[in-house]
Amino acid sequence: MEKFTGTVAGPEALKTMPEEYQNAVAKIVVSHAINELTGAETFDAPANRLAPTPRYKWLVSRVAMEEYGHHLLFARLAKGMGIDWRANKRPLTLFDYPMVTWVEFGVLKALGDLAEIIQLEDLMECSYLPLREVAIKTMPEERFHVGLGQGIVRDLLQNPDNRPAVQAAFDQVLPNVLPFFGKANSLNNALFQRWGIKRRTNSEMRREYWRRAEAFAREHQLAMPAVPEAYRSELMVQ
Ligand SMILES: [Fe+2]
Ligand SMILES: [Fe+2]
Repeated sequence: MEKFTGTVAGPEALKTMPEEYQNAVAKIVVSHAINELTGAETFDAPANRLAPTPRYKWLVSRVAMEEYGHHLLFARLAKGMGIDWRANKRPLTLFDYPMVTWVEFGVLKALGDLAEIIQLEDLMECSYLPLREVAIKTMPEERFHVGLGQGIVRDLLQNPDNRPAVQAAFDQVLPNVLPFFGKANSLNNALFQRWGIKRRTNSEMRREYWRRAEAFAREHQLAMPAVPEAYRSELMVQ
């Protein structure tokens, strides 16, 4: 089948599209609704207690509010499409990460939300216009989250005593983010591309992610962890 180059204006038009398209959009909306909520509950809301200053507590509260807001936007999108976002999908394994320190929160925001930005870059051009709108709306906030995470890391590294803890969190979080982009050569991914829902392949996005994480590491003289075995062929090609 040829690549779909049109746009779908809303839920009514969506119903006239092939089931394959409807399912592909539903998959993305559901996974975002789940992951935004899980992220808010496991990292952002609890981080308020970890934040060391009133200013950081204020900024973290804003992040938590925004992540709950993102969940609501995706949940509303799902409702408009007549689907249940609670349907049988497990949150990302990234959220199994047992965050207990402020250092870890900073690194999680700098690296975890960076992955979301890369996803949103594609969704901002998505053929399903309501999804495109949500991506455009949430993008500036995700940029703020990454910026906050990077700022926390920068602040922490002012004190050399913090460097080992920052490096340890970096080493643990980064490999955990990689599965977020899905499997290489995934069937879903091929459908997303064919239907103009995503522009890049999972592998392309993961490579781009690794490249940006590397730039961040370089800026702060952090060492990059070894590329996990599963992604070696994908990330080590030049
Ligand atoms: Fe978000
Ligand atoms: Fe975020």
